[in-house]
Amino acid sequence: MNTMQDAQAKAAQLPWMPQRKLDHIPGDYGLPLFGHTFAFLKDFQSLVNDTAQKYGLVNRGSIMFQRGVSLLGPDANEFVLRDQAHVFSSRAAWNPLLEKLFRNGLMLRDFSDHKFHRRILQQAFKKPALSSYLDSMNPHIARGISQWPQGREMSFFKGIKSLLLDVGAETFFGLEMGRDAQRVNDAFVAEVDASLAVLRVMIPGTTWYKGMKGRQFLEKFVTGLIPERKAGNGTDFFSELCRAAAEEEGPTLSDEDIMNHMIFLLFAAHDTTTSTLSSIIYALAKNPEWQERLHQEYLDLGKDAVEYDDLNNLQQTTWVFKEALRMHPPLPTIPRRTVEEIEWQGYTLPRNTLVSVVPLHTHYMEEYWSDPYRFDPERFSPERAEDKKHFYQWIPFGGGHHKCIGLNFAELQSKVFLFHFLRNYRVEVTPGYTMEYQQVPLAMPRDGLPIRIQPLA
Ligand code: HEM
Repeated sequence: MNTMQDAQAKAAQLPWMPQRKLDHIPGDYGLPLFGHTFAFLKDFQSLVNDTAQKYGLVNRGSIMFQRGVSLLGPDANEFVLRDQAHVFSSRAAWNPLLEKLFRNGLMLRDFSDHKFHRRILQQAFKKPALSSYLDSMNPHIARGISQWPQGREMSFFKGIKSLLLDVGAETFFGLEMGRDAQRVNDAFVAEVDASLAVLRVMIPGTTWYKGMKGRQFLEKFVTGLIPERKAGNGTDFFSELCRAAAEEEGPTLSDEDIMNHMIFLLFAAHDTTTSTLSSIIYALAKNPEWQERLHQEYLDLGKDAVEYDDLNNLQQTTWVFKEALRMHPPLPTIPRRTVEEIEWQGYTLPRNTLVSVVPLHTHYMEEYWSDPYRFDPERFSPERAEDKKHFYQWIPFGGGHHKCIGLNFAELQSKVFLFHFLRNYRVEVTPGYTMEYQQVPLAMPRDGLPIRIQPLA
């Protein structure tokens, strides 16, 4: 078995292009040159299901000019994500997409190096830190929602994206709303937009150019604030991270590391939570009885703001949160690359194979979920506990070494939003409306999710 140091060295030597000799694995490469790219972009879930039915739970394919192998089902999720043999590199899989814009973020680190950084970052996600984020999050979210139009159509997606950006400027960076916060938000949005750009050259006016300029602005802005945040006693995420780095005995994070982590964390936090809340609100608009149940849960709490210790008591909200993430995991697929040859279920995966596990497939497997296409939050109740058959059957946050470090933060922010929203408003969609999902690279409503909100008496 590899040690982490060995694996680290092997990952650094992987060629840029993933392995192409995978013909010994069942599957096909689809169309010449394009492979399965069109089906992938149009309806990823059907592509994965059809391929699994035709070839089984280990299959090969070609998407976006890269050949790779999908390993499906909870056992495969455990094998890849838990990675006891230290053979699956996250950095080598994600870097081609994210390296220039989100350099050296936590997900783009591997093995011992990753472990070291993750341990320090973890400080900013501990209970006292999370509790303090709530102090600014509660009033900010309540105020933001109160400014949404009532009784007429609005795009939920646009509304929640902009609200979470504003809240993020305060919670993550400790910025009051104003010029700095707006500039940070604009730079960040440009960077995220650029992560999907096909043309990646520095030509003024292009999405890529704007994204790289956004990155340059953020680098300067964040680095400039580090001395102040290290010395201060701020309760924002940035201050927590700066202090965690400063208080570490022995080797610690450099200012450049802190800057890279902050920019990556914003990226990892933002669209994923926007996606989750869009799925939840869509499901609640279609299932008004669940809206009523959550509304009642918030009235029963008998408070005007959510505190950290309330979060575990919001049981029905927890089920809804989990069910929305089951049905629409924001990251429908999670990639890795092998740093050396390894066997899985009788198949040899050569060194440098692009391997994907697919939460969107596991989350609908009938062996694990009853009537999987139905929105049914009670499947997570202690009485039914459908999610407890396998530790790796519900994996919207991934698992193992790279399991989402922000999962509690995401749950907390989602619950704070739902509390302030559903305590005061009813949400509706046009009768008969069905939201179309863009599934990749992140689950999002294609039409922005048009809703109407009505104040409750
Ligand atoms: C519901 C919202 C979220 C979902 C569904 C989600 C999902 C994920 C997934 C699937 C991974 C693992 C990726 C992989 O293994 O390659 C991940 C990693 C990560 N997430 Fe999240 N995430 C969410 C919110 C957040 C938030 C709010 C933050 C920060 C405040 C965050 C920060 C990160 C970071 C830093 C990593 C990399 C962890 C590592 O490599 O050790 N995420 N997330």
